Amino acid sequence: MSRNFVAAEERKDGYLHIVLITTGSVASVKAPLIVSELLQHKNVSIQVVASKNSLVFYDPRAIEAAGSRVWVDEDEWQANYRIGDPILHIELRRWADLVLIAPCSANTLSKIAHGSCDNLATSLLRALAPTTPTYVFPAMNTMMYEHPLTAEHLRVVQEVIGYKVVGPIGKSLACGDVGIGAMTDWRDICKLVVERFHLEKTSGASNGTD
Ligand SMILES: Cc1cc2nc3c(=O)[nH]c(=O)nc-3n(C[C@H](O)[C@H](O)[C@H](O)COP(=O)(O)O)c2cc1C
Repeated sequence: MSRNFVAAEERKDGYLHIVLITTGSVASVKAPLIVSELLQHKNVSIQVVASKNSLVFYDPRAIEAAGSRVWVDEDEWQANYRIGDPILHIELRRWADLVLIAPCSANTLSKIAHGSCDNLATSLLRALAPTTPTYVFPAMNTMMYEHPLTAEHLRVVQEVIGYKVVGPIGKSLACGDVGIGAMTDWRDICKLVVERFHLEKTSGASNGTD
């Protein structure tokens, strides 16, 4: 079912509008926790853009229960499109004050570095103003992370596009390997946003737990 999203109608004065992009890494299981923790702060609004493969790892209903919405490729493509209708990836980039790509798979990292825009997440990123703060939290198997192409893709997204890359960290990975490649702890992702934007907890909000 298609849904409409118009940035001018959805932006709220004084709010931090965050787009969280999730991709096909096991670390996407943390998306509901990130959303729920950030929404416990004053004047925060979040839209989640999910790659098709990321939805293997969480249930969009968990995001919706936390107070956010999940957008997928199908939402972009309306059979009855008319000139002048809102275009979802453009509306989302107009809406966004901050973009978090958490987790960022090797595949999406490569697509960003090459300028590909074949799904909602990468179309949004390709249309984003370079001034919109964008954070990449890579998450992948150690061998994928240590592949020479990963270093090159990370260089391009930082030096050419200007994104901030945070992590990955070393730990026992979901695939059984031990090494670098895990997404930065979800609590640290939230902390980074809270500190950078001086967010205050809503009164009565609890502390995040795993
Ligand atoms: C169970 C499972 C876990 C995966 N975990 C990762 C991962 O942590 N990092 C990664 O880069 N790719 C991982 N992959 C592979 C990606 O899902 C795959 O490359 C996919 O095309 C990524 O698509 P996306 O970038 O559009 O989300 C995993 C695949 C499976 C089946």
